Amino acid sequence: MRSGWLALASVMALTAGAAIAQDAGVAHPDRWPSLAAAAPDAAIEARIDALIAAMSLEQKVGQIVQGDIGSTTPEDVATYHLGSILNGGSSSPGGDDFGPASAWVAAADAYYDASMRPNGKLPRIPVMWGSDAVHGHNNIVGATLFPHNIGLGAARNPALMEKIGRVTAIEMRVTGLDWTFAPTIAVARDDRWGRTYESFGEDPAIATSYAAALVHGLQGRRSDPDWLKGPHIIATAKHFLADGGTADGRDRGDAKIAEAELIRFHAPAYVAALKADVQSVMASFSGWNGVKMHGNASLLTSVLKQRWGFDGLVVGDWDGHAKVPGCSPTDCPASIVAGLDMFMGPASWKGLYASTLAAAEAGALPMARLDDAVRRILRVKLRAGLFEAGKPSSREYAGRYELLGAPDHRTVAREAVRESLVLLKNSGVLPLKPDARILVAGDGADNVAKQSGGWTLSWQGTGTKPEHFPGATSIFAGVRDAVKAGGGTTELSLEGRFKTRPDAAIVVFGEDPYAEFQGDRADLYFDDTRGSLDAMKRLKAAGIPVVAVFLSGRPLWVNRHINTADAFIAAWLPGSEGAGVADVLFGKVDFKGKLPFSWPADAKGAPLNIGDADYEPLYPLGFGLTLADRSTGAALSEDPGIIVEQPLTGPIFTRGRAVGTRLLQIDGANDSPQAISGAADNGAIAVRPVDRDAQEDAREIAWSGKSRGTLIVANPRAADLSAAGPLALALDLRVDQAPTAPAMLEIRCGPGCTARLDIADRLATIAGKGWQSASIPLSCVPGAKLDNITAPFALSSSAPLRLTLSSIALTPVKETPCR
Ligand code: BGC
Ligand code: BGC
Repeated sequence: MRSGWLALASVMALTAGAAIAQDAGVAHPDRWPSLAAAAPDAAIEARIDALIAAMSLEQKVGQIVQGDIGSTTPEDVATYHLGSILNGGSSSPGGDDFGPASAWVAAADAYYDASMRPNGKLPRIPVMWGSDAVHGHNNIVGATLFPHNIGLGAARNPALMEKIGRVTAIEMRVTGLDWTFAPTIAVARDDRWGRTYESFGEDPAIATSYAAALVHGLQGRRSDPDWLKGPHIIATAKHFLADGGTADGRDRGDAKIAEAELIRFHAPAYVAALKADVQSVMASFSGWNGVKMHGNASLLTSVLKQRWGFDGLVVGDWDGHAKVPGCSPTDCPASIVAGLDMFMGPASWKGLYASTLAAAEAGALPMARLDDAVRRILRVKLRAGLFEAGKPSSREYAGRYELLGAPDHRTVAREAVRESLVLLKNSGVLPLKPDARILVAGDGADNVAKQSGGWTLSWQGTGTKPEHFPGATSIFAGVRDAVKAGGGTTELSLEGRFKTRPDAAIVVFGEDPYAEFQGDRADLYFDDTRGSLDAMKRLKAAGIPVVAVFLSGRPLWVNRHINTADAFIAAWLPGSEGAGVADVLFGKVDFKGKLPFSWPADAKGAPLNIGDADYEPLYPLGFGLTLADRSTGAALSEDPGIIVEQPLTGPIFTRGRAVGTRLLQIDGANDSPQAISGAADNGAIAVRPVDRDAQEDAREIAWSGKSRGTLIVANPRAADLSAAGPLALALDLRVDQAPTAPAMLEIRCGPGCTARLDIADRLATIAGKGWQSASIPLSCVPGAKLDNITAPFALSSSAPLRLTLSSIALTPVKETPCR
C-alpha cells in the first residue's frame, strides 16, 4: 500500500526549497503543539489504493477541482470528472435564491447522477456538494436561522453548540447536500473586519471550547456508526490560519504577527476541531507575514498535515489561490504543491482543470502530491459513505421538508437567542411588564433580514422580502405575542410615533446586513442613518422609558444611544427566532450573555483586546448584567474621538487626494478595494501622481485591459444625499486614450446596491482634447439609493483606457431631465 505519509514526505522535499526562499512567513513546526495522527483505517486505505490505481490522470485532476453551481452543469461534472461542487452565497439551483427546497434535492440528484455515469473502465466517484451553512442552513427559504457566531460566543455554552450543529446538519441533509463550510473558528482581533460577526470572540478560549462541540454536532462522533452520514454531514474548520488576525482588520489581508501569536491566538481552535475529527479545513484568503495561506507550505503541510496529523482535505477559498505569486484564477499548481488538496474555482474551474492537467503531465505538479490530494478527498468521501449512499434524494433525511424550520429546531435557535443577548445597561426598566402598553420602534423592529445579517439567502443578506422568511419571527412579533399573552397591548411604529401613550418603548436598530470585505470599516462609529437616536430622544423627552436593542455584527461606538436609553442590549444578529428577545425583556428568563468582544470607549477602531497593555474598554470582555443588576451610571463621553462630520457636497477629490475622511481606492476583478495615496498598480488599473498646475496635483489612471479595474472615491460611512437637492458629478479631466469598450460610472449605495452609467461615448468625444470639464447629473445614473451613498464616484473598465483626473465634485444643478 502506498502510504499518504510517504507521499507527503516527498512533497516536503520538493517544497523545501520554495519554503526557505520565503523566510518571513515560514513557520517553525517544532514550536507548535503536536497531535497524534489517527490510525489509518486499513480497509478504507485499501479501497483508496484500488481507486487511485484505476483512475485516469484526467479523473485525478478533476477530483481536486470544485466548481460553483452557477458556472458548472451536471454535464460538466461528468465530462471533467469534477470531485466537488459548491453553491456560493449568491448561487442557487436555477439561479433562484428563493426557490423551493425541492429544487436543491433535484439539483443534488442531477450532479450526483452525472458523477456516477458509467465511463468505460474508470471508477465511478460520487461528487460532493459543499455549502455555507454558517448560521443554520442559511441558503434555504424556511430553514432555521441561528444567531451568527458573535452571538453564540456571548452564550458561552458549548453544549448548545452541539445541538445547533446537529440541527444544521439535519436541515442540510433534507436538501441533499453533503458538506458545510463551517464552523468559522476565526479569532477576530480587530473589529473593523467585516467578518467579525463570523467569529465567536476575541478570546481564543471561546472558539476553542466551541470547535469540538460544533464539529461533533455537525459530523457526529467518530465512534458513532453514522459518523458523517445519516443526520450528519462533513464540517470545515475555516479559514486557516489567522483570518481574524490581519492588519487593520482588512478582509483577505495580511496577518503581520509573530509566530508565537499564531500559536497562542489562532491555532488552538484548530487543534480542538482536529481532535474532534473535523474532515476538512479551508485555507484562508489572507496571508501571514506576506505569504498567502494558499501557498503557505509551512503552515498547510508542515504544521497542519504533518505536525497535527490532519488526514482530511484542505479546500481552497473562492479563487483564493489566484493571489499566490505566479498564479492566476485559472492556473496555480504551486498551491497544490504547497498543500492545498482541492481548488475552489467557482467559475475558473475549467481553466484550472486544464492548467493542472498540463502541470501534472509536465511534472510541475508531482504525481505523488496529486495522488495524496486525491487520496485525502477519497478518504473523506469513503468515510462519509458517499459511495454507498445512493442518490441524494434517496438518503435518510432527504425531502423531509417538514424538518426545515421544524418547531424543535426553532426551539434550539430561540434558546440560543436568549442566551446570546448581552445586557449593558439597566436603570430598572427591565424586566418589562407583559400587561403594559408597549411601543415597538426602529427599522430593525419588524425586519427578519436585518436581524439575520449577511449570509442569509444571499451572500450579502440583501435583496430579500419578508415573505422569504416563512415561519420566522421578528423581534416585534415576539414582543407582540408576549404582551398579548400577558394582557397588555403593543403598537408598532418604526419612527417611534404613537397613538396611545405607551408605558415603555423598545427601539430596535443597528447595522444593515453585509458580508466579507463589504463589511470592512475604517472605524467603529455607528452610522445612525435611520434616525434611531432622534426617536429615542423624542421618546425620552416625552417621559417614556426606552429599551434599546442593538443589532450589530460587532461592537460599535454608541455612547449617545447608551446615554439616552434606560436599558441597552447588544443583541448581535439573532436570526429567525426573534421571540427569544421578548423572552428576556419580559423576564421569562434572565440575561445570560457575556461580551465576546471588548466594547470600545471611542470610535477610533484601534484593536482592543483583553490583555492589551493599555486596555481601557467601555465594557470589558465578559461583561454582561443580569436582571438583578442596576446601572444608571455616569453619562458616557459623547466624543467619538474621530472627525465624523464632513460636508456632503463640494469637492470629493482634489489635489490628487480624496477629500476629508473619504478614501481613494483601486480594485481589480476580485472586489477587494485597496486604499491608495500615491502611485499604485494592481495589474488591472495603475494610478500615478502627475502635475497639472502644481506638483502632483492630479492623478493619471491607466486601465490595462487585462481584467476589470475600478477607481473609487469611497465614503468611510454611508452619506445621506437625499436631502441635498439635485446634484451632478463635476469632473475636471483629460482623456489621454479613448475607451474602446464600456466605461462604467458607478454610484455605490451599500451592499448589493450599485447604480451604473456607461460613459464611454462621453469620454471618447473629449479624448485628445486636453483638459475638459464634464458634468453628469446623478439623476442620469438611475437606481442609486441617495440616502445611503457609500461611494459617490467609481469608474470601472475592462478595456484599455487612460485619463488624468484633477478634481471631482458633487455640485448642485438645476433639475433637468436626463438625456
Ligand atoms: C468565503 C468563504 C466561503 C466561500 C464559499 C468565500 O468568499 O471566504 O467563507 O466558504 O466563499 O462561499
Ligand atoms: C459568492 C460568495 C463568495 C464571494 C467571494 C460571491 O459572489 O456568492 O459565496 O464568498 O463571492 O467574493
